Amino acid sequence: MVMRRQRGSLQRLMAVGNWKMHKTIPEAVALARELSEKVSTIKNVDIMIAPSFTILRSAGEVLRGTAIGLAAQDLHWENQGAYTGEVSPLQLIDVGCVAVLIGHSERRQYFHETDETVCRKIHAAIQHGLIPIVCLGETLEQRQTGQTGSVLELQIQKGFIGVANKAAESIVIAYEPVWAIGTGRLAVPEQIAEAHRLIRKRLSVIFGQEAEAIRILYGGSVSQENIQELVAIEELDGVLVGGASLNVGKFVRIIRVLEAQTEGSE
Ligand code: PGA
Repeated sequence: MVMRRQRGSLQRLMAVGNWKMHKTIPEAVALARELSEKVSTIKNVDIMIAPSFTILRSAGEVLRGTAIGLAAQDLHWENQGAYTGEVSPLQLIDVGCVAVLIGHSERRQYFHETDETVCRKIHAAIQHGLIPIVCLGETLEQRQTGQTGSVLELQIQKGFIGVANKAAESIVIAYEPVWAIGTGRLAVPEQIAEAHRLIRKRLSVIFGQEAEAIRILYGGSVSQENIQELVAIEELDGVLVGGASLNVGKFVRIIRVLEAQTEGSE
């Protein structure tokens, strides 16, 4: 996998669609099928979708043989056990997942996800060869009170305790300011660039040189209207898209802008 560190070198950007708690199986299968047809000619963007657990198996069948990766929205850190309602890494691999979202702000906010559980989940994902897409971000109150930097630092510091340097190349971070998620309120480019720089700096304290391999995505109200502005941000390695990924036309337009950017920088 070639990383996008410097404009001018061969780079791969990433687009992950987080479908959240949307779609029945037939609806999701139709969506995945249409998406896979529409992006079949895209070569330079790593594309993933993250549907609900119940949909993973059927979506995985649709995606088999395509370049679109299947991601789950969460996992438990144990392989098996008495954890009613949870899903293990082995079960995710069983249905064809290659990646998993970890620590999404909606899980932190509504389901008591903590940096400690995020850390356990990151370890479990890495151990099983699943790409952890680790979500970080500050709330509006934290931003307004000048805590953005310290919040992000703490999330990284606690989330990655004990993670080996060599795991860095498989890690993806999604910087998602909580106040920008689902609100239509996009962070301004300088806020995004600054947060990305801060995240990478903090990652380099943990992973040293290897931190360069970690891709940092932006998420929060990404749309076909603002993707052009986003992709111009040098620090950005791709996007995590919620609402707009449920509409094939919109998601494909976002992906095409990423692809054009990659081609333009070769
Ligand atoms: P949004 O969601 O694009 O609908 O704001 C992003 C996310 O929560 O990952």
